[in-house]
Amino acid sequence: MDVVGVLAIHILFLPTLVLYLYLRKHKSKSQQKNKLPPGSMGWPYIGETLQFYSQDPNVFFAAKQKRYGEIFKTHILGCPCVMLASPEAARFVLVTRAQLFKPTYPESKEQMIGPCALFFHQGDYHTRLRRLVQSSLAPEAIRKLVPDIEAIAVSTLESWSGGDLVNTFRGMKKFSFHVGVLAVFGSLDAYYKQQLEKNYSILDQGYNSFSTNIPGTPYRKAILARKRLNQILSEIIYHKKEKLVEKDLLGCLMNSKDEKGNILTDDQIADNIIGVLFAAQDTTASVLTWILKYLHDNPKLRKAVKAEHKAILLESNDGGNRSLTWAQTRNMHLTYRVILESLRMASIISFTFREAVADVEYKGYLIPKGWKVMPLFRNIHHNPEFFPDTQNFDPSRFEVAPIPNTFMPFGNGIHACPGNELAKLEMLILIHHLVTKFRWEVEGSQSGIQYGPFPVPQHGLPARFWKQPRSLRQRPGCA
Ligand code: HEM
Repeated sequence: MDVVGVLAIHILFLPTLVLYLYLRKHKSKSQQKNKLPPGSMGWPYIGETLQFYSQDPNVFFAAKQKRYGEIFKTHILGCPCVMLASPEAARFVLVTRAQLFKPTYPESKEQMIGPCALFFHQGDYHTRLRRLVQSSLAPEAIRKLVPDIEAIAVSTLESWSGGDLVNTFRGMKKFSFHVGVLAVFGSLDAYYKQQLEKNYSILDQGYNSFSTNIPGTPYRKAILARKRLNQILSEIIYHKKEKLVEKDLLGCLMNSKDEKGNILTDDQIADNIIGVLFAAQDTTASVLTWILKYLHDNPKLRKAVKAEHKAILLESNDGGNRSLTWAQTRNMHLTYRVILESLRMASIISFTFREAVADVEYKGYLIPKGWKVMPLFRNIHHNPEFFPDTQNFDPSRFEVAPIPNTFMPFGNGIHACPGNELAKLEMLILIHHLVTKFRWEVEGSQSGIQYGPFPVPQHGLPARFWKQPRSLRQRPGCA
């Protein structure tokens, strides 16, 4: 070897060796002590993304759980991930060690909703915003909304009746959006409602599209619609400042001051309003669509649910001439269990994403800093150990409370859903009017599932609706 060769070894090899030895020595204690969870990381770069997308994601996760157990690693969507399929592990990430796992969303989604929306944050800012959102969606705050939600439910159902083919999911999206607007703004000028709906719908259409700045693409249109939404919200805020008395979410956000007396900026308010409308719409609409399917597929159950609601009409509501009360919505026990069982069966939020902010040890395994962590709600909801005969739609299983931490349709811990009471209330009210005043038939045999991104029955459950004549409506037990 000549002098140049020896020099090259010194210049290239020795520093690499020194760096390697240094990194080995300074490897964190947890990395030295613990091993990564079992599992496969797939191909370089793409990991197991193709397998994830080429099959039903639930089958992908279930097969992995069967092979590796409650905790396993994989590599999807460009990220190394640890999946957690036990109640204990989900609780560890979402509740007991929540400060070690931050929420994580793709940058493009954050920009679309608004980076100040509470679900992108941890710490003081999140706590402040969460308190405001939670207080405006708590039972004491939403009980006064019953008559308005009823009016929205009735006008939605009436707009479908007449026997035309309706895409149930799309129709339910309209319903849940209007209820969301009611909860956020209270009473709102019809012009602003229409402007919000129009622009929000463009935003919604571009949300899951490929992110690009090319003019005319759904993504670009969505970004422009998001900007217009900011202008509309600024105008609404400006007018509201003149009469700030209401306790709706917008009022709560505008009234809020932190300990130093700082108010929220218009951008912070706008991002959180869009965030809440976003969190409220597809979730509730998917579950309602599934409920219609489950009731349609189970005639005996449908009859029992009808009987529950007809009893309310006959006993207290003058055959339907008086509106529902909050107390009556608390008394729809069977319907409530149908909602819980639908949330379990459909598990529309199959999992959530967090990112480890430090190396974390769980049961002797290492979850490295920067890795994504995914508690798998659906796998837990479909585990026969907690929910026997899991594929059987059986609301009676909820006559007994589920084992703690095994039922998390609304998540768990500091980011758990603050809108869960509103979601359940609007579902109870819509079902009440549906089963007491309408008849519906699902078109075709609907056994498939589509993801958009939440699972919904194939083609959004096409169905036809008819309003029943008054004489038929009042006969108890008339299915
Ligand atoms: C059936 C309907 C719904 C389901 C299944 C659902 C489910 C969830 C879940 C699982 C989470 C936690 C996500 C995580 O931990 O990463 C969540 C968060 C959230 N939900 Fe819902 N949700 C529903 C309806 C609503 C409604 C109606 C609203 C508001 C009106 C709402 C507002 C929110 C907000 C603001 C968050 C973020 C909370 C935070 O980060 O602190 N949701 N939801």
